[in-house]
Amino acid sequence: MATLEPTRHTLSDGQGAFTIRAATPDDAPAMLDAARDAFRTSPFLLTSPDEFTMTESEEREFVAGILAHPRQLMLIAEEAGRVLGMLDMRQISIRRKARHRVLLGMSVREAFRGRGVGTALMSRGVHWARAHPDLSLITLEVYAANTRAITLYKRFGFLPKGTLPGGLVHDDGSAWDQVEMYLRV
Ligand SMILES: CC(C)(COP(=O)(O)OP(=O)(O)OC[C@H]1O[C@@H](n2cnc3c(N)ncnc32)[C@H](O)[C@@H]1OP(=O)(O)O)[C@@H](O)C(=O)NCCC(=O)NCCS
Repeated sequence: MATLEPTRHTLSDGQGAFTIRAATPDDAPAMLDAARDAFRTSPFLLTSPDEFTMTESEEREFVAGILAHPRQLMLIAEEAGRVLGMLDMRQISIRRKARHRVLLGMSVREAFRGRGVGTALMSRGVHWARAHPDLSLITLEVYAANTRAITLYKRFGFLPKGTLPGGLVHDDGSAWDQVEMYLRV
C-alpha cells in the first residue's frame, strides 16, 4: 500500500470528529467490533452475522496482508479507539491482466450512518486510487435496493454496469437484485 497520511474530518451534523487513516494490525479488535455491528444491523452486506467468525489473530493477519500489498487499501474512520467505518480496496485476481482493478467494499457503524463518514472514506479511497500509478478501475457490487449506498457511489461518479436479477437470496427465500458499478480512475 502506498503511503497515506491521516486526515481529520467533522461529522456532517457537527456532533463530533474522526480521523481517516490506513488500518494497522493493532486495529484488529476495533475493526472486528465495527464489522460485527455492520453485519448485525445491515441487510445489505454479503456476510450474514453468524457467518462472521474471524478471530483477532486472523484479522491481524488480514490487515497485515493488505498493508504489505502494493495495490490494496484498508482505510478506517476512527475516533478514540473506536472504528466508525471501514473501506477496503482489494485485488480480486493475482493475474497481471487484472492488476489495474480493485474491488471496493465499505461499511459504517449503524449509529454513524448518514453523517458523512462514508463520503469521507470514499473521498480518501478514490484519491488514493487516482494517485496510484498501477490502478485505473474500481468496481463494486451493491444491492439494487441500497439507495443510500448507490446515492453515495453515483455522487463519486460510479456508473452502473448492469443488474444481476436475484443475485442474492436471503434465508427467508427472498431474492434481491445486485448492481455492479465501476469508476475509472
Ligand atoms: C452505505 C454506507 C457505507 C454509506 O456511508 P454513510 O456514512 O452512511 O454515508 P454518508 O452519510 O457519507 O452519505 C450518504 C448519502 O446518502 C444519503 N442518504 C442518507 N440516508 C438515505 C436513505 N435512507 N436513502 C437514500 N439516501 C440516503 C445522504 O443524504 C448522503 O447523500 P448526500 O451527501 O448527497 O446528502 C453506510 O450507510 C453503511 O455502512 N450502510 C450499511 C452497509 C452498506 O450498505 N454498505 C455498502 C455495501 S455495498
